[in-house]
Amino acid sequence: MIYANITGWGKCIPPAKLTNDDLSTVVDTNDEWIKTRTGISERRVSHVSTAELATIAAQQAIDCAGLKGDDIDLVMLATCTPTTLVANTASLVQKNIGATGAAACDMNAACSGFLYALQAATAQIKSGMIKKAVIVGAERMTWHVNWAKRDSAVLFGDGAGAVVLEASEEKSGLLASKTGCDTSNRDILHITNFGTEIDKYEAPLGPSNLLFEGREVFKRAVKGMSEACDDVLNQANLNLDEIDVLIPHQANLRIIQAIQQRLSVSDEKVMVNIQNYGNTSAATIPIALCEAVEQGMIKPNSKIMSAAFGAGLTWAASYIQW
Ligand code: ACO
Repeated sequence: MIYANITGWGKCIPPAKLTNDDLSTVVDTNDEWIKTRTGISERRVSHVSTAELATIAAQQAIDCAGLKGDDIDLVMLATCTPTTLVANTASLVQKNIGATGAAACDMNAACSGFLYALQAATAQIKSGMIKKAVIVGAERMTWHVNWAKRDSAVLFGDGAGAVVLEASEEKSGLLASKTGCDTSNRDILHITNFGTEIDKYEAPLGPSNLLFEGREVFKRAVKGMSEACDDVLNQANLNLDEIDVLIPHQANLRIIQAIQQRLSVSDEKVMVNIQNYGNTSAATIPIALCEAVEQGMIKPNSKIMSAAFGAGLTWAASYIQW
């Protein structure tokens, strides 16, 4: 039996911090509201492209695995804020890391994108089609934020995280996974004026704009991620108390706490870093995964449950053995 072991990890955290107090100088908000409603204290703003953020995270993950770029068979980039749509942004990352023989493709499932990519690349490795892959989640969310709109301006940040997957007979990596999409509520979370479906009679074209119905997304995110975790636990034949670490998508601390409560997971098992970065969409899970390793939360053989929810409305949950 072939598995797709995670042998390297890396992240790129842009250095420029934007604190809640900074934001309160440009829009009608305040530190107390943001912290109590979202758990966010600050977020990072990138002055470089998504491709550059992704390249740094991918290179770190490849170095960590002790590989060279040309060892890699597949570069898959989860993003909903690509640097270029055509050619895809993964091709820039492939070029930058010297993975000259690798396939390169983008995966857009918004905030669920990294877990979708992990599932797709793991399946390719397990089938024997490829041997080594680098999976990246990278976003420049602040590019799409309307800084005059306080509801969304406070929520998002930029960053990237990556893992290397390698074929192995050792039982580890992604062992159970479920992905899905509920399109009946597709419109409650989207970015306007981005992509080819633009109203051609609406001129001049306005800036892209991230729009959402906060309370609806909140409720559906809690339900969607909790149910996806239950499905994956069933698939893996595991009980929740056997899980060592829960890595939820970092969209709002109250969403994380509600999932934690529904699943009855104790605080010390839940990885939370939203206070530092806000919602970096497809990058939240790989960044949190890296930091959980750095902080010693994830150790060899740790059993990890991860869940995500985003525009689409997409959802995903993964059971990973480290
Ligand atoms: N500063 C101060 N006041 C604010 C701000 C702000 N930044 N934003 C909104 N308010 C005000 C509102 O205007 C409203 O005022 P009103 O009662 O006078 O009308 C009040 O605060 C409460 O607003 P609500 O929208 O009810 O606040 P809520 O507790 O629902 O929190 C939030 C809003 C943070 C957006 C929450 O609903 C949320 O996180 N939803 C999900 C967001 C989302 O879609 N994220 C991206 C997708 S990824 C994912 O979520 C899984």
